[in-house]
Parts: sequence; C-alpha cells; structure tokens
Amino acid sequence: MNQPISITEVTAPPNLYPGFVNISLRALVPNTLAPCSVRLEAWSGHLQHLRLITALEAGAKVKESWRDHLINEGVTHAFIALDDLELFQDYLARHTHKLLAQDASDPDLGHCLVYEQALCSIKTAMLDPRNGRRLGMGVTTVRQIMGMMWDDEHTRSGMLRVLTSDKQLYTHSLNVTLLGVGFARARSWPRQQAENLGVALFFHDLGLMDQNQPDLQREALCHPRHDAELRNHPLISQRFLSRVPGMALETLETIANHHENLDGSGYPRGLKAADLPPASRLARIVDFYESATSGCGYKEVLTPFAALRLLRGEMASQVDQRILEDFVRFIGHI
Ligand SMILES: [Fe+2]
Ligand SMILES: [Fe+2]
Repeated sequence: MNQPISITEVTAPPNLYPGFVNISLRALVPNTLAPCSVRLEAWSGHLQHLRLITALEAGAKVKESWRDHLINEGVTHAFIALDDLELFQDYLARHTHKLLAQDASDPDLGHCLVYEQALCSIKTAMLDPRNGRRLGMGVTTVRQIMGMMWDDEHTRSGMLRVLTSDKQLYTHSLNVTLLGVGFARARSWPRQQAENLGVALFFHDLGLMDQNQPDLQREALCHPRHDAELRNHPLISQRFLSRVPGMALETLETIANHHENLDGSGYPRGLKAADLPPASRLARIVDFYESATSGCGYKEVLTPFAALRLLRGEMASQVDQRILEDFVRFIGHI
C-alpha cells in the first residue's frame, strides 16, 4: 500500500484563457453557419504575448478553404466562450446526424464529429462537476456512443481511428472510454456491463476537476503528484457520480478502483486482487495505457510497445495478465 507509485496519470486542462474552451478545428463543418463566435490564438507583437482574436462571427459561413488552410498550416484548435459550449454541442449533434445519414465522401468526418461532440459533453461536465444535469447529459452521451458502436463494426473501428491526443484530461477520458468499450466488445461482454464500464471511464478522473481544490487543478497538468489529495481523486469522482440518479453500483465501483493494483500497491484504498472485479482490472489497464501513450502523467510519450512492455514487465504483479494479453491483441487490431 505504501509503495511509491512509479507512474500515475494526472492531468487537467490548462486554463490559458479563462472563460473560453478549445475546440478542434475539424469540428467546424464546411458550408454550415458557425453557431457562435470562433476565436483563434494570435501573437500580439505589441503586447508580446498570445491572445484570442475573433476569426468567425456567430452566424458566419464556415468556408472549407479557410478551415483547410488553417489545418494545413498546423492550426488544430480554435476557442469558443464557455457559455457557448452547449450551443456548440447542439450544432455538432445536428450535423453529425446529417453526415452519418448520408453517404458521405469522407466517412471519417461523421466519426470525427461524434468524437468532437462527446468531447464537448465531457468538457461541459468536467467544468462543473457538481452540476447533476450536466453529468446526466454525459451519461446520455456514453449511451449514444454505445448505441452507435456496439452492433456496427464499421462505426466501432471508425471511432477508434479518429482518437486524438493533446494531453488534456477531457481527451484522455474520452479515449479511455472508447478504448474500454471497444475492448469490452472484443471480449464479448454483455452490453449492459460494457455500458456501466463506459460511463465509469467517461467520468473516472472527474475528481481531478474538484473546484474546491484550485491548486490541485492548476498544478495537475501532466506532473505526477503523490499527495493524499491526489490519491483521493477516484473517490471524489465516485462521490460526484453517486449523485446521478440510477447510477449502477458497478460503475461507481470501477471509478473508485481505477488506480488499484492486484498486489495492493495501488490507491486510494490499497485493495488486493480478491476485491477487484474484471471491470476494475480492465479500467486499470486501459487507463494506464492511454495515459502512457498520450503522454499524460509522463515527461515523455511512450510508444504503444513500450507501454505494453511496462505493463507486462515492471507492472506485472499489479495488473491482470490475462486481460492484458487480450488487450494486446485488441490494440494490435485497431
Ligand atoms: Fe485517475
Ligand atoms: Fe485516467
């Protein structure tokens, strides 16, 4: 229980522009009207720092050439006001339906939009983790994703193809959810059990966003910390989710256990193998793998091979090796 933790994933989104949140540029659908003002980062020579400038007014047309030019120049993100996040989520939902319904020339565009829509959903929840309505919307998002992925292999592989990685807690949470649900499907889990797992993974690090601990949030960006507050984040996440009506006990248990190890060296409670059901064991592996390969909690990003080697070697006594071997096969097929 008191062994040092060699690696832990701990991230929170950087709050460089209070009142704004970043969105992926690929979430702006060509030839639609921007649902809200969209801003870009620009260097101010006069002020000698970066600032946001309005690039697209609300209601202005999203020109494909403009968007593609920015993406080709390496601009991946834009910013919208926090208050516009739900509006933007509605915009994505509308266009996702249209794109998936029609025979699009770029099939991954629909998957990208589903992914971006889910990112908006988790951002909305994480920015206000005490807001039960927002958490409930997050649960609905997971159920929608499950509905799309579960019986449709094309969508399932498509969703796993469009994962992005930016060391932010939102992205980590969504990636872990998609990998976890996809892996549960590959292991032939019953759908309800996989959905309980998906909800758990979507919200597993919500406790890192505790608004009562601003210092924790500020310092949590990819710097491993081992203090008591941080070790407690699974239980804080669990407490937030326990307020959502109808939350499955299995979901709450998985959230609380996502840093527990089979040999008792995990946290927050130092549980051992006998206390850790399959969902908790699976969550530990998928969470670690995503953190390691996306660079969250690390000074450097590990390759998938290096992350899996660590799980098989140094961490062999901590994680379920049978589940791990299945996970290795699953990763190999993505
Ligand atoms: Fe965590
Ligand atoms: Fe995590």
